[in-house]
Amino acid sequence: MSAPTSAIESVLVENRVFPPSDAVVKAARVSGMAGYDALCAEADKDFEGFWARLARENVNWSKPFTRTLDTSNAPFFKWFDDGELNASANCLDRHIGTPTENKTAIVFEADDGAVTKITYKELLARVSQFANALKAHGVAKGDRVLIYMPMTIEGVIAMQACARIGATHSVVFGGFSAKAVQERIIDAGAVAVITANYQMRGGKELPLKAIIDEALAMGGCDTIRNVFVFERTATTCNMVPGRDKTFGEILAGQSTECAPVPVGAEHPLFILYTSGSTGKPKGVQHSTGGYLLWAKLTMDWTFDLRADDVFWCTADIGWITGHTYVAYGPLAAGATQIIFEGIPTFPNAGRFWQMIEKHKCTIFYTAPTAIRSLIKAAEGDAAVHPARSDLSSLRILGSVGEPINPEAWMWYHKNVGGERCPIVDTFWQTETGGHVITPLPGATPLVPGSCTLPLPGIAAAIVDETGNDVANGAGGILVIKKPWPSMIRTIWNDPERFKKAYFPEELKGYYLAGDGAVRSADRGYFRITGRIDDVLNVSGHRMGTMEIESALVSKTDLVAEAAVVGRPDDVTGEAICAFVVLKRARPTGEEAKQIANELRNWVAKEIGPIAKPKDIRFGDNLPKTRSGKIMRRLLRSIAKGEAITQDTSTLENPAILDQLAKAN
Ligand code: PRX
Repeated sequence: MSAPTSAIESVLVENRVFPPSDAVVKAARVSGMAGYDALCAEADKDFEGFWARLARENVNWSKPFTRTLDTSNAPFFKWFDDGELNASANCLDRHIGTPTENKTAIVFEADDGAVTKITYKELLARVSQFANALKAHGVAKGDRVLIYMPMTIEGVIAMQACARIGATHSVVFGGFSAKAVQERIIDAGAVAVITANYQMRGGKELPLKAIIDEALAMGGCDTIRNVFVFERTATTCNMVPGRDKTFGEILAGQSTECAPVPVGAEHPLFILYTSGSTGKPKGVQHSTGGYLLWAKLTMDWTFDLRADDVFWCTADIGWITGHTYVAYGPLAAGATQIIFEGIPTFPNAGRFWQMIEKHKCTIFYTAPTAIRSLIKAAEGDAAVHPARSDLSSLRILGSVGEPINPEAWMWYHKNVGGERCPIVDTFWQTETGGHVITPLPGATPLVPGSCTLPLPGIAAAIVDETGNDVANGAGGILVIKKPWPSMIRTIWNDPERFKKAYFPEELKGYYLAGDGAVRSADRGYFRITGRIDDVLNVSGHRMGTMEIESALVSKTDLVAEAAVVGRPDDVTGEAICAFVVLKRARPTGEEAKQIANELRNWVAKEIGPIAKPKDIRFGDNLPKTRSGKIMRRLLRSIAKGEAITQDTSTLENPAILDQLAKAN
């Protein structure tokens, strides 16, 4: 029988320390804490000189930069801004003429297990050919292109091809709805969409192109001239003559050579939409030079990459992790990487472990939610336990996207890492571009559940509401006090929101991450305690409560009011709970179930299936203060099933608490 994760949690002791072995320290790029301290000291002594050195060593510049950091228009910082480069050339062309050119760049395993390999030289030819096809359709430097693709080699080719011609891509995760796609097309002013007819996940053929058709039919997407369709499966899809073209059509006759277009270091490589505290997602805009430096540098620092590594980051290219540690970082670093189309539970929940064995993966990077669900599966069925696979190729494990509970960390360490692989618990965000607080595998003694220390040059700190440092051991607000090369540059179309959201005046100009954190009294290690804004983290996916509320109340025939909060969940980290007041009598029993399902499907249509609330509770009203403000902290307690101990004296309608508590 599978034990609930909560039962596993209580038997394990926290705060053990796992220093790297002498052999690991000796072989590492950043060797021991002495190596880490030396880099930190270099950054302290000459901040700009430090970054200039690393930018020269790690990035190929077609025109060298002479200015490192421009703070004149803070917080709109500029890095290396008079330098020029091309991101695709830095991922592909740089390896040509070196032994890496014939190395496997990507090992692609499809949903059905079929494996395709592609070398750096072949990848360059295919990216160049695709870039030529884009150019032939008028896509040019500075244009925006929306990418809605499955996890495939072609998804990476689409991103790299945009970068090659200086077009700015905006990748939208395949789990987002037509409405979400439409909003992003309009906000970005995209000129083309790159998609696939279908995607294969868990043995099922799921439509992608049909969702793009639906998005474009919603109107307002007049900037779109073309939709390019990768024929992932043999099933045909609707094609609008003139507008829609298959990859086969556009690639025919195109040369496999295409000179990379140099762009300024600050040129927007991509926009990636993410959730914030309002109903409207933010288009996080990244640079080319600083971003690329980070992608390459953190492959070396955090993953201690070596020439013979087989790297596997399981994140989808629709998220920032799939940008930095699939589409750019591994290629810039010349790694062999695994790309997986499917899901971890198909055909069984041992798929990840079987793939590690099959491809002799050495560095494995995944999310706590995946680990927790695979723990559950392995405990229920020995056939899918990692012990059934030979995982001896592994040397480094990574975790990303949400806090990893010490119990899941210990299981990962023991059962996947064979107690020999360091685990890098990497804290970062869409906005930071890459890791900012993380252990280094050959340096940092590990403490389960802690992302340990900031990377060299990252001025991370914990402060109170006025921006003053708090003592170690006391919780507070996580900030970064100085700019860093891969930081968000602005919010697309909304520089004011950028300033307000990330550099609030009361925090002395520090970058506000939006997370709470605490540093340990002994080592000063960081532990992230979770978001301090209205953002939830469900299975490592960032969801704004306001977005879900807006989606619910937009069902105007049914919903009068809605409030969304998170509650802890054993597998997904947090679960979405919605409290809903209908425009009609409060439903109960079967009827309540039916309406709840209707609302879940509605949210899936408005935002995407990933935003469906797990719990929906109906009330005659919501708990409000006399001035009409919804008291969310009370809703959070109810969602968790806790007794209400907070002060409810300011509540207009205290009886509602009892009703909502019973309403599930
Ligand atoms: O709350 C933090 C959590 O994920 C948020 C960023 O989400 P997103 O922009 O979607 O990027 C996810 C992938 C980098 C953060 O504000 N988070 C991310 N990594 C960790 C984490 N929380 C704790 N520990 C981590 N290692």
